Amino acid sequence: MKGKQLFAKKIAEETIGVLTEDEVLEKVEFPKYQEQGDLAFPCFELAKVYKKNPASIATELATKTKSSYFSKVVSEGPYVNCFLNKKHVSKEVLAEILTKKEAYGSLTIGQGEKVTIDFSSPNIAKPFSMGHLRSTVIGNAYANILEKCGYKAIRINHLGDWGTQFGKLITAYHRWGNEQIVRQDPIKELLKLYVRFHEEAEVDSMLEVEGRLWFRKLEQGDKKALELWQWFREVSLDEFKGIYKLLNVTFDSYSGEAFYNDKMEETIQLLKREGLLSTSQGAEIVSLEEHSLPPCLIRKSDGATLYATRDLTAAIYRHKKYQFAKSVYVVGQEQSLHFQQIFLVLRKLGFNWASQLEHLPFGFILQNGKKMSTRKGKVVLLENVLREAIAMAEKSIEEKNPTLQNKSKVAHDVGIGAIIFQDLKTDPQHSVEFSLESMLRFEGATGPYVQYTHARACSILRKSNRYKNSESLDGLSDEPSWSVVKKLTDFPSKVQESYEQAKPSEIATYLLSLCREFNKYYAHCKILHEDNQLASRLALVECAAIVIKEGLRLLGMQAPSEM
Ligand code: ARG
Repeated sequence: MKGKQLFAKKIAEETIGVLTEDEVLEKVEFPKYQEQGDLAFPCFELAKVYKKNPASIATELATKTKSSYFSKVVSEGPYVNCFLNKKHVSKEVLAEILTKKEAYGSLTIGQGEKVTIDFSSPNIAKPFSMGHLRSTVIGNAYANILEKCGYKAIRINHLGDWGTQFGKLITAYHRWGNEQIVRQDPIKELLKLYVRFHEEAEVDSMLEVEGRLWFRKLEQGDKKALELWQWFREVSLDEFKGIYKLLNVTFDSYSGEAFYNDKMEETIQLLKREGLLSTSQGAEIVSLEEHSLPPCLIRKSDGATLYATRDLTAAIYRHKKYQFAKSVYVVGQEQSLHFQQIFLVLRKLGFNWASQLEHLPFGFILQNGKKMSTRKGKVVLLENVLREAIAMAEKSIEEKNPTLQNKSKVAHDVGIGAIIFQDLKTDPQHSVEFSLESMLRFEGATGPYVQYTHARACSILRKSNRYKNSESLDGLSDEPSWSVVKKLTDFPSKVQESYEQAKPSEIATYLLSLCREFNKYYAHCKILHEDNQLASRLALVECAAIVIKEGLRLLGMQAPSEM
């Protein structure tokens, strides 16, 4: 928060040679109770150095620490408590936000360096699962946060478009498929064929053999096999793009697993040259025994390459192409071992950039406490879920605000926003419970609640035709305003935390607390009352609207100005 830096600087000036400004900054706390001021500095460590008791050091420091930004500095036991000058600080913060607008909170940590972020990455010819939804929502938000921190994010959709399953699918299509039917509802039909393959393979052992053969043909570039694969890929991608459009998510690259087909041999040769490859039961592997991990499978005994081979190759390719400062994989926690193995093999290959690779795992989506599954026919079609959320949002808008213009656009923003927020308010590592009814509520810890608070702020600004933010601001010193101001000053550090911890949830929970303070303020103050503080109060409202909107944008959500 504003003032914290200054307080740390002043304390550091009084303790020269003992503590640096950064060391003081780390120790500064935010007191729990308002009576204890806005900032507090504990003197225990100084007591050891100066061999005095902490309380007398606190007393001494309190009398010496002065600034026009502090209304008073006092000691309380071993603490130096600082009360900020509300008027002065609020005036400055509001002016800063009004000038910077949505750039407020932007940081320069990344210095324009590139970060590749591998997210969403669904498997073609299969439904887009709830897990892929989480990856999409978390990855998109994290990419936005990276950019807010000054990185150039490169969004990569590593489509699952290669692997033995396509041999099986081609086999099934040849046996039971029908072009017309597949064209009508591609993913559903392809999934049916895939499921049928596994059912029939239990009694007909030839099917597995045939499937392997087709995959081998595919890997060898057989024209017929490739044509079918290409078609499956296209129709699947069309459906996925429909979902991305609803979610308003874009990618810089759709180079999936198949993209690395002609690049894997090089990786295998490299592993060989480095003496890392060994044979086990006919398959080629990299042993990770010394790390107490199972081996990383590189090539099967029948010559087929694997998921890991493609990920190794992709990492090497991406580093060459982008020279990334960091490379992030937003993939479910069930693949943690896979990424551990990949990162280790790259390290063994001597790539020092292997330390810049990061797996961001996440938990499951649950419904009534159980994992939502797309397997075994229990298909939850994501697009239907999204459309249902939009329809429910439309219904509640119809009840609350029937004359609203742009109703369907707002319903879209609110319905989709509810799903995104429900996911992102939770620590990515935890599971999230999926309930459309509760995530669409306009009160409580929901996306619509945050969006509604933003719309409320916009509506006040619309009513105040007198307000132009160029008017000179006075600053505000009452408690309800101060609580909002304090929250607003927290935004830049929340951006930084969400980046450092790779947790969009830091932004989501921050927005909830900002909205709570703003709504308290709204309930307590006659904002539009004509007095000499009107412009300052309206500026506060505008600043809250700016920060909420920017926070929502980082999460990948829209902020309708009316709802
Ligand atoms: N397609 C994979 C799956 O659905 C996820 C791919 C994640 N990205 C990667 N580079 N492995 O399980």
